[in-house]
Amino acid sequence: MIHIENLTVIFNAGTPDERAALDGLALSVPKGQWISVIGSNGAGKTTLLNAIAGSVPIAGGSVVLDGIDRSGEPEYRRARIIGRVRQDPTAGTAPDMTVMDNLALASRKGPRRLLPAKPASLKRRLLERLAELGMGLEDRSGENVSRLSGGQRQALALLMAAMTGPAVLLLDEHTAALDPRNADIVMSLTRRFVRDFGLTALMVTHDMRRALADGDRLVMMHEGGIVADLSGEGKAAASVEDLVRLFREVRGEEYAEDRDLLA
Ligand SMILES: Nc1ncnc2c1ncn2[C@@H]1O[C@H](COP(=O)(O)OP(=O)(O)OP(=O)(O)O)[C@@H](O)[C@H]1O
Ligand SMILES: [Mg+2]
Repeated sequence: MIHIENLTVIFNAGTPDERAALDGLALSVPKGQWISVIGSNGAGKTTLLNAIAGSVPIAGGSVVLDGIDRSGEPEYRRARIIGRVRQDPTAGTAPDMTVMDNLALASRKGPRRLLPAKPASLKRRLLERLAELGMGLEDRSGENVSRLSGGQRQALALLMAAMTGPAVLLLDEHTAALDPRNADIVMSLTRRFVRDFGLTALMVTHDMRRALADGDRLVMMHEGGIVADLSGEGKAAASVEDLVRLFREVRGEEYAEDRDLLA
């Protein structure tokens, strides 16, 4: 469960470049809900994930995760209950460690809710989880991660972020750097993990088809706030064209000819 109130992040405070990247944002996410987050460049999507994870200081408001106010908690403490996958496939794994050592490290970091305690059982379970990725990594568990492809690394990063059952899974354009085939594989793994591990997830994406097709709810951000929030029938009935129209409305006439959004 995530409960965010009046969340404000200001960069370059007190200088001429002062900018509110989040401006009094409010968002409540029930346990087990998956939200797609869309919005144009600079809308504040990454800053929202950073503020939840404690990677940027907040100027005001609160972030409650699993019933506890984490607003004052440092990033390393929150990392124990937060799983995170970024756009860059090299960001989520340690290249000079083996696949198995990466997994073992991730298993110690998280809440371990979903993993066995005994070392032998843990290793067996981690190998099973690797096999479930469908990439043959169970046979390469002794190899350094630097030898894996981008798609394999991102699948591994996702497994590491999700397998311990974090309170929240934060995905920031986590398929954007992959070729279409690997993006599809990582998305179908995302669907499976969110469902099988019962995760609460926020997924930032620029792919509006994907944002509509996946997840239980869709949130559109603009200038540090939420300007649209669709779920249930409203989300089911929405089309990419509807989202583009919404984008144009919130951005004003100035951007009315922006065709990139349909790409
Ligand atoms: N470390 C920083 N220092 C100063 N300004 C920042 C910093 N990080 C983000 N910003 C500014 O805050 C605003 C929101 O940025 P953010 O990265 O959250 O946008 P985003 O929605 O993730 O965009 P994108 O789709 O391009 O990833 C932008 O104006 C950005 O320039
Ligand atoms: Mg971003």
